[in-house]
Amino acid sequence: MHIFKEKEPLQQLVSHLKQEGKTIGFVPTMGALHKGHLSLVSQAAVACDVVIVSIFINPTQFDNLIDLEKYPRTLESDLAMLQDLKSDLILFTPNPSELYGEKVEAHHFDFEGLEQVMEGKFRAGHFDGVGTVVKRFFEIVKPDKAFFGEKDFQQLQVIKKLNEKENLRVEVIGCPIDREETGLARSSRNERLNAEIRAKAAFIYQTLLQVKVKFGTENAFFIKNWVENEFENHPFLKLEYFEIANSNTLRSEEEPKPNLKYRAFIAAYAEEVRLIDNLALN
Ligand code: PAJ
Repeated sequence: MHIFKEKEPLQQLVSHLKQEGKTIGFVPTMGALHKGHLSLVSQAAVACDVVIVSIFINPTQFDNLIDLEKYPRTLESDLAMLQDLKSDLILFTPNPSELYGEKVEAHHFDFEGLEQVMEGKFRAGHFDGVGTVVKRFFEIVKPDKAFFGEKDFQQLQVIKKLNEKENLRVEVIGCPIDREETGLARSSRNERLNAEIRAKAAFIYQTLLQVKVKFGTENAFFIKNWVENEFENHPFLKLEYFEIANSNTLRSEEEPKPNLKYRAFIAAYAEEVRLIDNLALN
């Protein structure tokens, strides 16, 4: 594995590889890697000649300092997992100044409303921070394809919009959600749950599956009430939001249209751990 902390030598290697006709796949992460991240790396390895993974805890996308400080830093085990999966990959682990220069701050973007709903509503400035760092990474790495998980479906849509509006010329590829055996979407935050709560948090996914069944026969208003009620009766899961939204615009619609795609989205707390999940409904 080649590890780069600085952008210039990485850029030199990338331009050399491109001259040789190699295609570059890019998987940005914040570390604390789990099998969900590895599934992105595997998909990049199938689709591209060279895979570049970044590990960078991006300060500008955190809306609160405590979350940033508490974010797990597990570089040793991250390296071991990547090495086991694909020993010839390229890893980029920059310091903030390498990406941001002296001022570690986010640009403001207009993502045409995608940034204003759901995660954007509950995490002020979050998508400006994500957009800023991903744009910077795309400019440095210049990948042909970049891989993002549908686990963060709103982020995926925001990045597609960023790519289009800023003319970054990367093929942005969404990858399916990797789940634990119970159905719980994999997340580094799951490590903070005790075994019993972790198993029971699969309730989020089970609820989404039931929403998918109801989507065929019930209206969105009815389904939303039903979900809110399910969570109200749950002993320790607390719902933050539930939405059924158009997969492209992420807007809720009163009357879903037959030719369009819809998804259901949940954010919920299991004790103090915030979990998100989503499911395609049609
Ligand atoms: P992070 O949370 O580390 O996630 C890195 C990538 O892994 C994202 O594209 C995320 O959607 C994907 N991922 C996480 N869990 C997954 C799962 N269970 N199944 C499939 N994919 C999964 O998302 C970020 O970092 C940051 O916002 C980043 C894009 C790196 C910008 O800082």
